[in-house]
Amino acid sequence: MLMANDIHVSTILFSLFILPSFFLHSTDGAATYNVLSYGAKSDGATDNSAAFLKAWSAVCAQSDAAVTMYVPSGSFLLHPTMFTGPCKSKSTVVQIDGNLVASSDYNLYEAAGYWLKFKNVQGLTFEGGQLDAKGSALWECKAQKTNCPDGARSLVFNDAKDIKLKGFTSLNSELFNIVIDTSSNVQVDGLNIQSAATSPNTDGIHVEQSSGVTITNTYIKTGDDCISIGQGTQNLWIEKVTCGPGHGISIGSLGKSANEAGVQNVTVKNVAFSGTTNGLRIKSWERSSNGFAKQILFDGATMDNVKNPIIIDQHYCPHNEGCPTENSGVKISNVVYKNINGTSATQVAVDFSCSASAPCQGISMANVQLTYKGQPAKSSCEHAFGSATGTMVPSSCLQSSSSSNRRLMAFVSNN
Ligand SMILES: *[C@@H]1O[C@H](CO)[C@@H](O)[C@H](O)[C@H]1NC(C)=O
Ligand SMILES: *[C@@H]1O[C@H](CO)[C@@H](O)[C@H](O)[C@H]1NC(C)=O
Repeated sequence: MLMANDIHVSTILFSLFILPSFFLHSTDGAATYNVLSYGAKSDGATDNSAAFLKAWSAVCAQSDAAVTMYVPSGSFLLHPTMFTGPCKSKSTVVQIDGNLVASSDYNLYEAAGYWLKFKNVQGLTFEGGQLDAKGSALWECKAQKTNCPDGARSLVFNDAKDIKLKGFTSLNSELFNIVIDTSSNVQVDGLNIQSAATSPNTDGIHVEQSSGVTITNTYIKTGDDCISIGQGTQNLWIEKVTCGPGHGISIGSLGKSANEAGVQNVTVKNVAFSGTTNGLRIKSWERSSNGFAKQILFDGATMDNVKNPIIIDQHYCPHNEGCPTENSGVKISNVVYKNINGTSATQVAVDFSCSASAPCQGISMANVQLTYKGQPAKSSCEHAFGSATGTMVPSSCLQSSSSSNRRLMAFVSNN
């Protein structure tokens, strides 16, 4: 009797527990497309690109309010795969519980130049899981030989709009991990990006020709820039990003071409750098260009053993090749640095090396405290105009833009 009662009660409890989740699945079910139903194999060895594209076609053709392409746990090998829109639903979700892996045979990715690409998609959330591009074989090739392929970018967005990238890990990219290009309104939150400290050109996130991108709560360890900001970037917001190892957060390289779109309205807030070569950097080619970077705010950064915590470098000319004018035309103006503290790994912690023909204008600094081996660090200025307030260690070397300076600048830029 007692026994029967027990079973009875537990059956009821069981049903109470199971039924709601069953209904959730069935209401969701109509709009959830599991890649396994399209022939995908989670064995880490079968190329799943055709299966994923079949699932994507089904997802994209579905006009429900929300549609999900689901990747369950397991390891899914993918050759270069391009997911093209537009899709019929206004809210498409790619939900990943498993691992997407690339082949370590980098020759498979060379022709495409990407591993995974979303093109012309609007209203997409890409969420969860892990992407492992297996790039170490290519890094080793590049370390030993000169004739290696360039490699592929891991996850690329082109002509995309209203995109959310949430809570996933990107490992071992051959080149840039994540690229946001010609896109708008993209929210990147809670990513974990890791490539080896010695891996070449493995930028964490690259933004270019895009507007309204936000990058928050993200950890980046890599061999190149943690975040690189290319031409035509506007209204970019970066907050709570941790970087290192890597080359820091970099606006640039700008001004490689004579004609290029400028960078405008970039906010970098409450970021942390550890053991990086640079912290907050603006970098331009030593070539003539109509490019610019303006309305830039760096507010809140901690530096732990960073080689160049604050740097503007307008003398970029790798191998001294292809920089005929010897001056950068990129105009850098209206840049604010405030609330920045910590340790520099070199004596010069603030380095403004601006262009003689396009001096930096309107740099303002407030509350900067950077030390080198327990002593105040140093600052260095070249064609850099602006002002400083509050605590300034090292003391500022910015020139105030007095009228005589303006005349001098006019003289310089006329020559
Ligand atoms: C600058 O960008 C931010 C988003 O990062 C946006 O909210 C703000 O409106 C922009 N400001 C201007 C003047 O465009
Ligand atoms: C640096 O700034 C952070 C945030 O404002 C603060 O928590 C920390 O105590 C500061 N460190 C030093 C050494 O001033």
